[in-house]
Amino acid sequence: MTDPDPLVAWRRYADPCVLLDGFHALKHALRFGAEVPVAVTADRTAALALADELAPDVRDAMDALLAEVEREAYVSLVPRPHPTAVAALAVRSSREDGLRALARTPRRAPVVVLDQPRNLGNAGAVIRLAAGFGATGVVTTGTLDPWHPTVVRGGAGLHFATAVERLEVAELPDGPLFALDPEGEDVRGLKLPDDALLAFGSERSGLSSELRARADHLVALPMRPQVSSYNLATSVAMTLYHWSADGGAFQGP
Ligand SMILES: C[S@@+](CC[C@H](N)C(=O)[O-])C[C@H]1O[C@@H](n2cnc3c(N)ncnc32)[C@H](O)[C@@H]1O
Repeated sequence: MTDPDPLVAWRRYADPCVLLDGFHALKHALRFGAEVPVAVTADRTAALALADELAPDVRDAMDALLAEVEREAYVSLVPRPHPTAVAALAVRSSREDGLRALARTPRRAPVVVLDQPRNLGNAGAVIRLAAGFGATGVVTTGTLDPWHPTVVRGGAGLHFATAVERLEVAELPDGPLFALDPEGEDVRGLKLPDDALLAFGSERSGLSSELRARADHLVALPMRPQVSSYNLATSVAMTLYHWSADGGAFQGP
């Protein structure tokens, strides 16, 4: 049963849960079925007015969840206050569910693989992209935790809209692996299949030798000579767009 005091509930759930920072993160998480045991705001009227305007589909859920607390109490719960003064805790998706989603066949949309990413903000932006394009999931290799609070913040609550897991290269799901590298074949001549794994190298050193060894194709994004590379998240955006524009399964709203 939910604790009637939201601050007591917050203390109880803070450790096992992830922070949803701001109205939009809470909105996305609710839309995609996250379990949210506690949500607070320093201004319930303003938060519900935002819900009326921007998210009528989850307005009732927010109404039931959001507890108003003193601004000082709200500020003490978050690393830095969000303009919407909304914060919530969500139960992290289970690894079993994530692995099941990644392994499900036939796969109708690609899995994005970030090979040893370093930048937490990039990882969050990629999860947001994957959610937007309806990708099956985002897998990271290496040491970065894709559920790190900074990644969750960058993902804007969309970790719940796609599978997000960390795996070894040897554990990657089945499927043709297209590894993105400026030395590869021009993507414009290629159709990326729905069951593809789309792999991207680390910000510092590109694709690892292990990932390269597993790759079926090396693919390049068009880039003028003398430019070394694109940012990781923008590379993912272009590649997912290419997949979708070329008849990818997601047909839009
Ligand atoms: C910032 S780049 C990595 C730069 C790194 N210094 C290197 O040596 O490759 C991060 C990743 O984005 C992808 N990427 C960036 N520009 C690309 C391009 N023009 N074609 C294909 N992939 C690209 C690659 O997967 C790359 O490993």
